[in-house]
Amino acid sequence: MSSKKDSFSSKDKSYMKLAINLARARKGLTGENPSVGCLIVKDDKIISIGQTGYNGRPHAESNAINNSFQDLAGAKMYVTLEPCNHYGKTPPCTKSIIKSDIKEVFYSINDIDNKVKGKSFKILTKKNIKVRRGLLKNEAIDLYDSYVINRKYKMPFVTAKIAVSKNKLIYSEKVKRITNQTSDKLSHYLRFKNDGLMISSNTLNIDNPKLNCRLSGYEKYSPKRIILDKNLDIRMNTYIYKSVKNDNTIIFHNSSNHSKIKALKKRGINLIKLKLTTKKKFNFRTILKKLFSLGIRNLLVEGGEKITKNMLKNRLINQFYLFESLKTLPKTKKYVIFTSSNILIRNYKVKSKISSKLAKDKITIYKR
Ligand SMILES: NC(=O)c1ccc[n+]([C@@H]2O[C@H](COP(=O)([O-])OP(=O)(O)OC[C@H]3O[C@@H](n4cnc5c(N)ncnc54)[C@H](OP(=O)(O)O)[C@@H]3O)[C@@H](O)[C@H]2O)c1
Repeated sequence: MSSKKDSFSSKDKSYMKLAINLARARKGLTGENPSVGCLIVKDDKIISIGQTGYNGRPHAESNAINNSFQDLAGAKMYVTLEPCNHYGKTPPCTKSIIKSDIKEVFYSINDIDNKVKGKSFKILTKKNIKVRRGLLKNEAIDLYDSYVINRKYKMPFVTAKIAVSKNKLIYSEKVKRITNQTSDKLSHYLRFKNDGLMISSNTLNIDNPKLNCRLSGYEKYSPKRIILDKNLDIRMNTYIYKSVKNDNTIIFHNSSNHSKIKALKKRGINLIKLKLTTKKKFNFRTILKKLFSLGIRNLLVEGGEKITKNMLKNRLINQFYLFESLKTLPKTKKYVIFTSSNILIRNYKVKSKISSKLAKDKITIYKR
């Protein structure tokens, strides 16, 4: 929410809200660049809109400028993030804004990138363009949560999810399904919005999951599959093994099984050998840094009990989706209990809750 004392009109706020929604819609799909939304308004009419292109280019401002059929002279621009001012893979947005004769620019927050931060304000005001910052700042801070983590820590923004039964089980040998189909849709939406999805080979071999996004029309946005597999236990009859293609699979391991290494490499899997800690584990921070270097900016972790607990304890999860079903699962033979509720309550805040009378699972979103 914006501060009560700010001097922005309610119209300014609603235009920026639309720009933020444009950016949100593309969040997670703009590769290494932040998702930006942009609106151009003239005589109180929206005359053009722009979003950052898929994979980060073109920028939202140049899309909005180039998409317009109208003369932009005298128009106002509402953009969620400070426009860029340097030559990268695209020319500076400040240059296109100046050239278009736009007379006023509103943006929510400064870019955290040192090449840009605060500089566009000076460049634009020098050219007699009125610049106003801070419009819906808090909404924009929330929008750019992942971008800030990416830039500051050189690590992906981590979202984790887990499904828990009424009696706190995350697995029971007898029953495969915990949550309902509506929850499944949200899970697939999370896969759509993340560029990597991490699980253990233990879960892979037990559940044989597909790990893809199965929302109709969005299949091509399925995330890269990332498997933690210390001893290269992945079974060759699993769906993931059989569906390796185009660099879509990474396995972290610590194995010297040369024949398996050879077979997995030949299949096209990106095998990354990592040292183990004294407790014979991978260091999750090292994994996150490595994934960042491979271009992963938003990571979804669909961990079981061990991965989830370890990452929550070490505060490596930025956002957590807890799916709670009303089903009670049988505690016969093999079952796994979720034991991280206390860590969640201690280290995280509830951001929002989703529940519906029809689809009876309860979903709580926690954030750090
Ligand atoms: N309900 C759900 O949402 C959900 C989600 C995922 C999985 N599951 C279920 O959970 C069950 C598996 O539970 P789980 O607790 O074993 O799963 P998990 O936590 O996902 O994975 C455990 C496996 O990952 C390895 N691992 C964990 N942290 C590691 C680290 N830092 N370095 C290297 N290896 C590491 C473990 O190795 P070590 O043996 O060396 O510890 C173990 O083999 C499956 O049956 C699956 O169906 C449920």
